[in-house]
Amino acid sequence: MFNKLQSKWRVSGLRFVLILVTFATGGSLCGYLGKKIMNLLALDKGLLWVILYIFIITLLWPLCVLLISIPLGQFAFFKKYIGKMAARMSGRRQPKDKVRLAIFASGTGSNAQKIIERFKNSDGIEVALVVSNKAEAGVLHIANTHAIETLIIEKERFFKGDGYISTLKEKGIDWIILAGFLWKMPPAMIKAWPGHIINIHPALLPAYGGKGMYGKHVHEAVIAAGESQSGITIHYVDELYDHGDHIFQATCSVEKTDTADSLAQKIHVLEHRHFGEEIEKLLRK
Ligand code: GRF
Repeated sequence: MFNKLQSKWRVSGLRFVLILVTFATGGSLCGYLGKKIMNLLALDKGLLWVILYIFIITLLWPLCVLLISIPLGQFAFFKKYIGKMAARMSGRRQPKDKVRLAIFASGTGSNAQKIIERFKNSDGIEVALVVSNKAEAGVLHIANTHAIETLIIEKERFFKGDGYISTLKEKGIDWIILAGFLWKMPPAMIKAWPGHIINIHPALLPAYGGKGMYGKHVHEAVIAAGESQSGITIHYVDELYDHGDHIFQATCSVEKTDTADSLAQKIHVLEHRHFGEEIEKLLRK
C-alpha cells in the first residue's frame, strides 16, 4: 500500500516519510484543537455535539496540516493535495495532469538540457525523469541542477523481461525521448510505449545510421564520404537501430575544411534549435 501511494504521489522515499509525518502530526493537532474548542462550547455529548465536532474538524484539518507542512518543507505538496480535495468535494473539474517525459541519455546531455529548459514552465508538458546507463554522465548533473528525478539503469535488468517498464509506468511516464542514449531499446519497451519513443540522430537517415553509427563516428563517415550536406533526423524508435518513421529532418552544409568536431558543432546547433520544438509540436497535436 505504501509503495502504491509513493508512486501515486511521485515523491522520493524521504519526502514520502515527511508527508506521512505531516499527515499524522497535523491530524493529531487537529484532534487536539477540536476537542479544546468543543470543551469551550460546553455542550452535552449528543447528536449535536457529534455534528459540530465533525464540522470543526473538517475546517481545522487542512489548516493544521498546512501549518505542520511548513517546518517539514512539504507545504507545496499539501497545498496541491488540499486544493485537489477541495475541487473534488465541490465537483469542480480538475485540470489535466501534464504529459510526462523521460529523457534517456548516456552523455553530456546538451540536448536534454535544452528540452528541460523548454518545458520548465510549460503548462502541459514536463520532463519528469532523466534516465542514464552511466552513473558519471553529465546529463545527471543537469537533471540535478533542475531538480529532476534521475534513474541509473543496469544492463542486465534493462534487457531482461520487464526491465524497467514497471518502474517507468509507476512514475507515470507518457513519452520516452532518446537524446544520445547508446543502448538499443528492447522490444518490450517499444511495445509498452507504442509510437511514444523518439530519438534524435546526428545525420540524415537512412544514411549514416545503424549499429556503431553514433557520435564522432557518424561525422567521420560523412566527411570521409565527401558529402556536401549532413543534418539531423528526429524519428520514432522501432526495434532496429535508427530505423523508425521520420518526424523531422534539417540540414547543414559540410565544407571541405570541416572536421568531425566542427561538423558535430553544426549538428548540435540544429539539434538544440529543433528537438524541443518538434517534441512540443508532436505532443500538442
Ligand atoms: C547528439 O548528437 C544526438 O544526435 C545523438 O547523441 C548526441 C547527444 O549529444 N543521438 P548531447 O549529449 O545531447 O550533447
